[in-house]
Amino acid sequence: MRDRIKRIGKWVGLGLLVLVLGVGLYVGGVAYAYGRSVDHVYDVPLPDIERSTDPEVLARGEHLARSLGGCALSDCHSADLGGGQTADLGPIGSMTAPNITAGGRGAQYSDAELARLIQHGVKRDGRTVRFMPAHETAWLPDEDVRALVTYVRSVPSVSRPSGPMEIGLLGRILDRHDMIPIDIARRIDHAERSAPPAPAPTAAYGAYIGRMCTGCHGEHLSGGPIPGAPPDMAVPLNITPHAEGLGDWTYEDFETVMRTARRRDGRALDPMMPTEAVTNMDDTERRALWEYLRSVPPTPSGQR
Ligand code: HEC
Repeated sequence: MRDRIKRIGKWVGLGLLVLVLGVGLYVGGVAYAYGRSVDHVYDVPLPDIERSTDPEVLARGEHLARSLGGCALSDCHSADLGGGQTADLGPIGSMTAPNITAGGRGAQYSDAELARLIQHGVKRDGRTVRFMPAHETAWLPDEDVRALVTYVRSVPSVSRPSGPMEIGLLGRILDRHDMIPIDIARRIDHAERSAPPAPAPTAAYGAYIGRMCTGCHGEHLSGGPIPGAPPDMAVPLNITPHAEGLGDWTYEDFETVMRTARRRDGRALDPMMPTEAVTNMDDTERRALWEYLRSVPPTPSGQR
């Protein structure tokens, strides 16, 4: 009897050892792959894009920075572009959008380098940006990128120091499993730029804008908890035409939610929803987005 217990104990011990070694190898392998990928230097030529002196281009750039481009939001680089608040996501990491004015990183960048960063998610040194969702906005056509560069260059210099940017082990693992986008440049096709239609209130244009919703509402827009997110984080809702989503919504319902950042029952939307960006969208953008959301397959909630 005692021998049997001893023997079982030995096998259990051996099993545990193999398990620990296996987990160790797995985590080591994933962390290595992540490290190699974020240290990769991309060979992407600088686009021929420079700031403009045309006030209309500047105005378009300001509009984009506050809406579709998402740069000038308090969760991102902040309204003055002087650096945003730190998103502390526990074991995933602590992430802060840096100061991109002339008093910060902006000073080191040429206009073309800034344009390349927006279009390809590649920094001045050729490495990927982390966490900045350039893969959702890389579709913006050259003239819009030029407008954004023009606007970023026009803002007053801010001297705030940039906050921390540290990616934890869980963040690296989730990134490799495509559950949270941190290593951005590997998600962008650098050889072929997309060719979006001109801005119009159509589903075809809305499909491009809709990319900025997928980061939270999921690839299929059906919502559900973000993988690895802390349990107290808000849950993105279903925005497909399914009954559990926007099934019985009219455009007027959608417009009201997008303009006022309040849900249909009058409660304010959780601040996790990028309310600044959506309230700053113009009529064409909002309508295009709606047409697109109506055109996707109705999907029950939580399929991400
Ligand atoms: C950073 C994450 C994030 C992004 C990006 C995001 N959302 Fe949301 N969204 C949320 C969260 C979280 C909620 C739930 C808010 C609440 O419960 O108050 C929500 C709720 C909504 C609602 C309300 C649904 C309802 O039933 O009341 C709509 C509509 C919506 N989002 C549309 C969009 C659209 C369109 C986009 C893209 C332009 C978008 N969201 C991008 C996180 C996000």
